[in-house]
Amino acid sequence: MLRVEETQVPVEFSQELINKFDEIVARYPAGKQKSALLPVLHLVQAEYQWLSSAAMDKVAEYLQIKPIEVYEVASFYSMYFLRPSGKYVLEVCRTGPCALVGAEKIMDHIEQALGVKEGEVTADGLFSWRGVECLAACGFGPVLQIGPEYTFYENLTNESVNNLIEDLKKKG
Ligand code: FES
Repeated sequence: MLRVEETQVPVEFSQELINKFDEIVARYPAGKQKSALLPVLHLVQAEYQWLSSAAMDKVAEYLQIKPIEVYEVASFYSMYFLRPSGKYVLEVCRTGPCALVGAEKIMDHIEQALGVKEGEVTADGLFSWRGVECLAACGFGPVLQIGPEYTFYENLTNESVNNLIEDLKKKG
């Protein structure tokens, strides 16, 4: 569990976000609000780009569960980011089949193109990247995905990565 000073910045969820939480909680029987934890964490991550301790504590408060119950879930699933991330996180598969067709070179290229190392965030806050395990598109490597919709980009080349980065920059 990451515990750094910046994770202690107080978090106040907007009413709009709380309304979305309420909608999800309403799908479950009374008293079973903990069942909403995964989608609620996705919403929080979409809002803040990562899950700080303060944000997870707030989620625990909202769902009336213990903070540790949130931490253990958030730290188990790799889709949740426990450190600051860019708006767009390029997750490159580095498992065997993708490695055989150049995943490492693609990661080197991304590092060079973005000017940040794995896990770091670009100065404009737009990008970070990391290597991840198999994304189940092994026949189409090298492959990367970008959340929160988890869009896939397959058969990557340096050129297609450059185009992708440029498109995302334009999108902002
Ligand atoms: Fe890369 Fe499976 S090894 S998607």
